[in-house]
Amino acid sequence: MTASEKPAAATDIGRTATLDIAGKKVSMPVRSGTIGPDVVDIGKVYANTGAFTYDPGFTSTANCSSKITYIDGDKGVLLYRGYPIEQLAEQSSHLEVCYLLLHGELPTAKQFEEFRSIVTRHTMVHEQMTRFFQGFRRDAHPMAIMCGSVGALSAFYHDSTDINDPKQRIIAAHRMIAKMPTLAAMAYKYSIGQPFIYPRNDLDYTSNFMQMCFAVPCEPYAADPVLSRALDRIFILHADHEQNASTSTVRLAGSSGANPFACIAAGIACLWGPAHGGANEAALKMLEEIGTVKNIKAHVEKVKDKNSGVRLMGFGHRVYKNYDPRAKVMQKTTQEVLKVLGVNDPILEVAMELEQIALHDDFFIEKKLYPNVDFYSGIVLRALGFPVSMFTVLFAVARTIGWISQWREMIEDPEQKIGRPRQLYVGPTNRDYVPVAKRG
Ligand code: CMC
Repeated sequence: MTASEKPAAATDIGRTATLDIAGKKVSMPVRSGTIGPDVVDIGKVYANTGAFTYDPGFTSTANCSSKITYIDGDKGVLLYRGYPIEQLAEQSSHLEVCYLLLHGELPTAKQFEEFRSIVTRHTMVHEQMTRFFQGFRRDAHPMAIMCGSVGALSAFYHDSTDINDPKQRIIAAHRMIAKMPTLAAMAYKYSIGQPFIYPRNDLDYTSNFMQMCFAVPCEPYAADPVLSRALDRIFILHADHEQNASTSTVRLAGSSGANPFACIAAGIACLWGPAHGGANEAALKMLEEIGTVKNIKAHVEKVKDKNSGVRLMGFGHRVYKNYDPRAKVMQKTTQEVLKVLGVNDPILEVAMELEQIALHDDFFIEKKLYPNVDFYSGIVLRALGFPVSMFTVLFAVARTIGWISQWREMIEDPEQKIGRPRQLYVGPTNRDYVPVAKRG
């Protein structure tokens, strides 16, 4: 059956797979989505065989069905609600993509205007949040501030924490989309000791974010439209990525009935890790350490030495075993931004040369390691004026719509259950307590 012939919704197509563990058999339905690999429904394996399945890192396990984002990692395809990422990055805006991810369809002009107006009117945060910020040390990492301040939103917006009320769920979604840039800009301003800048509702989503980050009260500021468009495109590229680690964290936290602000704070904590959202920071650091084209070869040799523990940051992906489609758009955006700014960044030359060397090296070809979205994003974000410590914060701003859309889809899914994985226990077996005086 080809992808296009497949039925329009996840379905049991009458096929089964059978598992036989020491004579205990279980027949498992095979379910098909609209596109992509089938799944074997293992829900009855434990009940029928007494054995669990074992899959650390979920490399072969689908945790939910979803209509939001599709990735074909072998072909390098990424679709939001069916639309290719390249088309959205080129022709859409981040706010329109927010509507698409949240509601499933592109908005009409009227729907978009209503959505824009609602989001715009939620951009301010409770004034008392400013005092909340004062509790952080000035040298705190902005991601640490984001974990705390986003979690604290549930203490300020009680009227949108009842997850069983669909109206409150959508208000929480609007609040998250609107307030995340405000909190991110506040985290930045706080870390550099400048006053917070209030949102401006006459600006588009990303220009407003840039002015909250870069304006100061004593002089006028206007974001360069080309640069604001570039950042908007970066937001689109990072808006969702199906069941990645932070999104799965949001879903898992939400599966217990936790409020959406707390769930997204959990997602932010997960995103902070260097294997996930922290990778662009790590990639830029690596490129800076390499410094010049002549040092690339030695670095590549280090990466290839298994004992060195060094990885090529910004390369490789759990799902993409081909060029990450976001990386292509990001490379183009990087070149455009540097041209507008008139910046001749030697690091870009290192990145492009390193990419070429790696793409033609058997080590990377055999392991199917290609540049991911983070390989170039650090260069462009730095050129836009953001310090390295803000990179993951920007990723969090962009991914907020993915998190909240996936959270909402999960809450509305009749198959949803509390997430409760099992384990292979390898610790001590039953033994008696020994009083401290008798321990040797
Ligand atoms: N450099 C060198 N070797 C690598 C790399 C790399 N970047 N990535 C994977 N490998 C090797 C790895 O050593 C292993 O080799 P072997 O089979 O000989 O042991 C093999 O490839 C498979 O690696 P893995 O860690 O089992 O693969 P994974 O799917 O668990 O890891 C990854 C995916 C993204 C964590 C990994 O590729 C990585 O650490 N990349 C660098 C960090 C990075 O750029 N992360 C950004 C991901 S995209 C943004 C996002 O989604 O957040």
